[in-house]
Amino acid sequence: KVLILDFGSQYTQLIARRVRELNIYSEIHPFNKIPTNFQEYKAVILSGSPFSVRGEQALHPDLTNIRGEKPLLAVCYGAQYLAHFSGGEVAPSNTREYGRAKLAFIKENEAFFKDINVGSQVWMSHSDTIKTLPTNGVLIASTHDVTNAAYRIEGEDTYAIQFHPEVYHSTDGKQLLENFLVEIAGLNQDWTPDSFVEETVAAIQEKVGNDKVVLGLSGGVDSTVAAVLLNKAIGKNLYCIFVNNGLLRKNEFESVLNQYEGMGLNVKGVDASQRFMDALAGIEDPELKRKAIGNAFIEVFDDEAHKLTDVKWLAQGTIYPDVIESVSATGGPSATIKSHHNVGGLPDFMKLKIVEPLRAIFKDEVRRVGATLGIDPELLGRHPFPGPGLGIRILGDITAEKVRILQEVDAIFINGLKEWGLYDKVWQAGAMLLPVNSVGVMGDERTYEKCVALRAVESTDGMTADWVNLPYEFLQKTSNDIINKVKGVNRVVYDISSKPPATIEWE
Ligand code: XMP
Repeated sequence: KVLILDFGSQYTQLIARRVRELNIYSEIHPFNKIPTNFQEYKAVILSGSPFSVRGEQALHPDLTNIRGEKPLLAVCYGAQYLAHFSGGEVAPSNTREYGRAKLAFIKENEAFFKDINVGSQVWMSHSDTIKTLPTNGVLIASTHDVTNAAYRIEGEDTYAIQFHPEVYHSTDGKQLLENFLVEIAGLNQDWTPDSFVEETVAAIQEKVGNDKVVLGLSGGVDSTVAAVLLNKAIGKNLYCIFVNNGLLRKNEFESVLNQYEGMGLNVKGVDASQRFMDALAGIEDPELKRKAIGNAFIEVFDDEAHKLTDVKWLAQGTIYPDVIESVSATGGPSATIKSHHNVGGLPDFMKLKIVEPLRAIFKDEVRRVGATLGIDPELLGRHPFPGPGLGIRILGDITAEKVRILQEVDAIFINGLKEWGLYDKVWQAGAMLLPVNSVGVMGDERTYEKCVALRAVESTDGMTADWVNLPYEFLQKTSNDIINKVKGVNRVVYDISSKPPATIEWE
């Protein structure tokens, strides 16, 4: 496996994903927390950073056991770090070094540049430049503007590049990573969805033995894949609980429950809609709603889990981005924008041990593992849906009637996206019920009814998002359908705000 030391670059996760796309397992760790099982890693990559090696805040990794001991690839900040502190010179650059550049020189017979030619496009993003190479540095590539674009250290398997191979705009970036990891570091490319399933099933069996495990299913991709993996490992010792909080999409509870049963999962559906409605009565504030929904979920899940005897483990669908320790710009925690309630976040009093079979993988890898396990592609391709469900898409207080209206609107919108072949082009979509009435006219009558907002966004991880340019014909048809078919709605608007500064959900 490969160790990626993070210096806080926005691209660090991309490095991990590119390496994994080569079927080589990689892990991200903060630059100052080198794991104790360090010997198990066959190569090390240093990420970029928002910091300057010349600044007072420069981050100093301890490379004593790494440099010269293991194959090392230093990217951007990493490359500058090696130069600056090992006899070279780094200075502010006076030419523009952002964006696309082309390799203008590549040293001959370098395994590092195997199958990569002069003219190859690379992605630059830095404001410092390496003026002189470190001691024993050998120049191996330049662009038109940047002479020291890549170097290696004589007598070591240490390579350093000023550009970002992990970014798609570096057209041979993946080839370069492969050259480093396979040609130079000698890693095998055998980490595949199949091998992941095999290893994870064995690890689960080893960990939980004959103990019983309880898991909360949400209908989403992560909890489903986690359940199927566990089911493969321990079969009937896995007890799944699928709670209807009354805030799911139209008919979702019944249809997903059927699907789960069809997959052979040992699953119990619990309809607790009324309990959630009671807990939410009169609450308007978004964060208080999240808390009420989160608490009600814990109560229901706890009641159900107590009906099972001898359960020792709680399984969760936690994925890798949730557990990567980040290097923040300020050193402090980032502000809570919205408190996310995720299915499975349970209090300590349950005293269960935790098993998280997806902890090591990214969302796209979860989907690939799901496909290997034979899970229905439609289920794997589902849009993300927030834990509090329609509860945070009904602005203001929640009533059963409002839930009904929004379920109808949402179903027309989502089914329409599917019929028009747009569903897979959208990352997430949904409808919001606004807490305002507006005047309309239907036939000869004046109406004074609800307004709904439709939202469809493109994104990769939900952190940033842009609204989708849906065809006018589709919006027109959808709007007509909603107003004609859903009693209580007389106006439809489309949300054209990106994130930031807006968020995806309205609450
Ligand atoms: P925002 O609205 O913060 O949403 O731009 C980003 C992503 O997170 C989802 N989301 C939630 N998911 N519990 C969840 O499990 C929540 O309370 C919650 N709030 C937002 C949202 O649907 C989007 O995918």
